[in-house]
Amino acid sequence: MTQTPTRKLIIAIDGPAGVGKSTIAARLARKLGYANLESGAMYRALALKAIEWDTGFDDEAALMRLAGNSRIQLEPSLSGNRVLLDDRDVTARVRETDVTEGASRVSIHPKVRQWMVARQQEMGAGGGIVMEGRDIGTKVFPHADVKIFLDADPVVREQRRLEQIKARGSPAVLPSATLAAELRERDHRDRTRAASPLEAAPDAVVIDSSKLSEEEVLCRAEELVQQRLSAEQHLSS
Ligand code: C5P
Repeated sequence: MTQTPTRKLIIAIDGPAGVGKSTIAARLARKLGYANLESGAMYRALALKAIEWDTGFDDEAALMRLAGNSRIQLEPSLSGNRVLLDDRDVTARVRETDVTEGASRVSIHPKVRQWMVARQQEMGAGGGIVMEGRDIGTKVFPHADVKIFLDADPVVREQRRLEQIKARGSPAVLPSATLAAELRERDHRDRTRAASPLEAAPDAVVIDSSKLSEEEVLCRAEELVQQRLSAEQHLSS
């Protein structure tokens, strides 16, 4: 049997807010020596620009003009993505509440989504990536090698998001009831928007992480990647 060099895969991880996608994507990417890309950070960067330029989140044409004049870059690192907007480091700023709300609102516009998807496809074209978001397995990489839809009970997600914010030492920690309401509102918007609503791709493996530890989820994700790699080795032998 001839061993073929291992192809660099495209791995899509989708799911609602607070489910732990970023952590799993970063850890999985680290194990594989791949880059992790947080697609949501790009929507966040555009929302930040809209805030700075006083462009309404609901004005699609104005948002598209802003997008056309913006340079949004993600720099993968072991701990997450560094986010650059027009060469300025906005990594911490894009996690604040006003930007979070804005990202959820700018992402409903079909043209904004098209623009983002095209950029995300360019970023991942060479493979060797774990990209996480809401539409990676359905729209950005419908032919991704591994598709995972990570889900969890809303109460568990609220708790995880709270812990994540505390761990980041964010200056603007919301009361937990406000945070829960905000998470539910974003969820609702993501799931009910007309353009690419949040849903599992038909061929995604759904992992309900409500009762699983981070290690267990990671283990399951690694198994899926190994299965895919073994299937390829088998076919080419
Ligand atoms: O994942 P994150 O919370 O950073 O995403 C911010 C917002 O961007 C989400 O609330 C969602 O509305 C939007 N988003 C999206 N499609 C993606 C990633 C994020 O619509 N692929």
